Amino acid sequence: MTTTTIAQRLRHVEASSTLALASKAKALLQAGKPVLDFTAGEPDFPTPQPVKVAAVQAIEQNRTKYTPVAGIAELRQAVADNLNRRLGTKYGAAEVMVSCGAKHSLYNALQVICDPGDEVIILAPYWVSYPPLVRLADAEPVFVETREADGFQPDPAAVRRAITSKTKAIILNSPSNPTGAVIEESRLKELAAVVKGARSDDSLFIISDEIYDQIVFAPAKPYSIVQADPTLIDQTILVNGVSKTYSMTGWRIGYAAGPKNVIDAMVALQSHSTSNPTSISQYAALEAIRGDQSEVQRMTSEFERRRNALVGGLNNIPGLSCFHPQGAFYGWCNVSGLKQPAEAVAARWLDEALVAVVPGEGFGSAEHVRFSFATSLETIDEGVKRLDKWVKERH
Ligand SMILES: Cc1ncc(COP(=O)(O)O)c(C=O)c1O
Repeated sequence: MTTTTIAQRLRHVEASSTLALASKAKALLQAGKPVLDFTAGEPDFPTPQPVKVAAVQAIEQNRTKYTPVAGIAELRQAVADNLNRRLGTKYGAAEVMVSCGAKHSLYNALQVICDPGDEVIILAPYWVSYPPLVRLADAEPVFVETREADGFQPDPAAVRRAITSKTKAIILNSPSNPTGAVIEESRLKELAAVVKGARSDDSLFIISDEIYDQIVFAPAKPYSIVQADPTLIDQTILVNGVSKTYSMTGWRIGYAAGPKNVIDAMVALQSHSTSNPTSISQYAALEAIRGDQSEVQRMTSEFERRRNALVGGLNNIPGLSCFHPQGAFYGWCNVSGLKQPAEAVAARWLDEALVAVVPGEGFGSAEHVRFSFATSLETIDEGVKRLDKWVKERH
């Protein structure tokens, strides 16, 4: 098939770059090479047992038919209750919709708010899927840099300068993939003031992707824009899900909470695309959200131990400098000291040290690579040793 047969809006959308090196690493592993894989975008723990049991029960009780498009009523209510308890909001079930992963919620949200020519502000470095998701909604991404020296905190003045009459939304992601930065309360308050001051009406949206909000390491605390300024609730589309918090990436359950007219439009869109997310996964997610939360605590403590091992280890290697993440499970490592673009560094590490990382270009930086620490402490220790040796011998 020639490219001319592919629709215009797909021309600039390529398959996720984070997957390319991961699949090369997998191929090498399958060929018997002892590759250490730091590319995972998902927790390496099993889904908690009570969640699995709830799914089995759903099957046995024949909860295997269509559900309402926006999700079963109990799950929408459980999500609303959970957000209200944690964020002090007053969402009702009708202001929540469930979709096939947080990515699908983001897709739905951008599709229903963007018109051709609209602009969407994305803070860089950014999660790889934001620019394509914006372009698929016929809008233009506008990038606002965050600086390493500033802890990758958003600069409210820079955001203000980037807002034009065409700006439809600003995407926030805290904790961030790829940096692990958690936006501080004071910055969120300043950002909230910028959004409030930008227009006399409430036509500027914030899409707040809080998918890693439960994976935060003390003393950092998760904090949401709807806490920074509760009056922004009418302009915020909050996106979250069970994928990362409960190690449920394969179950494909995410959700959005927002103004009812926006949620209704997202439900209408979903009714003509995927319909409801899998019924069985919804019952599993209900158990995850309503049940015992001790596994979440346990996984987060384990991530913190690994964070310390990885970041400490990398920062002892000449030429590497890893940002200290306060949340999520990624080490965002500056490799500019090696005097090669990140893609070249990642390719050489895979070939010469059998260490797989994700180069930063897809996240908006040619100076960084992303390590996932959703892997064992042994892998982290061995990876650090191999890279130390590589830098000393080959570089
Ligand atoms: C920042 C961010 N948002 C959203 C998602 C998507 O989550 P889900 O698997 O629930 O679609 C991811 C997954 O990698 C992510 O890193």
